[in-house]
Amino acid sequence: MESYASPSVSDSLWISATQWKAFESAGTNAHRVCSLSGAWIERLGQDLLINHQTPTLLTHLVWEWKQREAYYGFSPVRIFNRSLPLRNADRSAPTLLEGDNSLPFETVVCESHVRFSLDFLAGYSVGLFLDQRANRALLREQPAKRVLNTFSYTCSFSVVAALTGAQTLSVDLSRKSLDRGRSNFELNALDPSLHRFLADDVQELLPRLARRKELFDAIILDPPTFSRGNKGRRFRAEENLQSLLDIALEVAAPQARILLSTNCTKLNAPELERIARFSLKTARRNGTLHCSKPLPDFPPGTGSTTLWIHLR
Ligand SMILES: C[S@@+](CC[C@H](N)C(=O)[O-])C[C@H]1O[C@@H](n2cnc3c(N)ncnc32)[C@H](O)[C@@H]1O
Repeated sequence: MESYASPSVSDSLWISATQWKAFESAGTNAHRVCSLSGAWIERLGQDLLINHQTPTLLTHLVWEWKQREAYYGFSPVRIFNRSLPLRNADRSAPTLLEGDNSLPFETVVCESHVRFSLDFLAGYSVGLFLDQRANRALLREQPAKRVLNTFSYTCSFSVVAALTGAQTLSVDLSRKSLDRGRSNFELNALDPSLHRFLADDVQELLPRLARRKELFDAIILDPPTFSRGNKGRRFRAEENLQSLLDIALEVAAPQARILLSTNCTKLNAPELERIARFSLKTARRNGTLHCSKPLPDFPPGTGSTTLWIHLR
């Protein structure tokens, strides 16, 4: 039977109060607070979310948090907890651990003053992947005109791009996630009707875009480790990331930037680099590979593995 490795509570990493204040000064109130083996805490606006593999870790982190509340000068309105199951099939939405049950479960958080809506009842993921903060920042710092956001989920990358004046196309199988994406546009005073949202299978849409000779100046490729698309079509990152990048290169304009990102534990940084180099060679395109800045709240080895390809 599969089981978790015995977690150690001694190797926990808590951000400093100075870092907490730095996030606030930068207009960010959605960040990790601590990371340890098998558990972590996120601050999400006025609330906390404790993620844990075991009940023991949850009890431990609640206790540890209480020791630090005064240090951070932050009293969460609510504390939610989310169990991290071994199997995806056992995933469920967070539950309320402490706080007023009558408050709305939808809330708004900020990242660099950009607003994102979260929903603690929506499912296992509440609406924003915090480990993509540096990549969203890069898209903001180096604006692109035409942005293709595949596996867009709640369209956080599209919102950031649209704020710089980009035309965006967001693609996701889930209409519900795209609707949440549209709401995120509105939350930031952006008109979603000026942008494209497509409920489709990325693996089917990319070849169609290529046939139509559409080109993009930035492409976000951040697929799940495993999914089933239209007609049960399977996507498995370790098998299909290479072909996904191959076809993405066909819709990449000269000097486009492509973000290659994965949570698949079998695809580490050297493997992503190998995939990128192989696809560039096959497509006869020249490009350079870049990493985004490490995040102060994500210790090495936590969060997704990402790589930017800058085409020449
Ligand atoms: C890991 S999330 C992407 C996170 C997103 N890049 C972000 O930073 O917010 C995966 C998303 O891919 C979508 N998805 C899974 N398989 C898909 C497919 N074959 N085509 C389109 N979307 C897919 C899911 O519905 C989900 O919203």
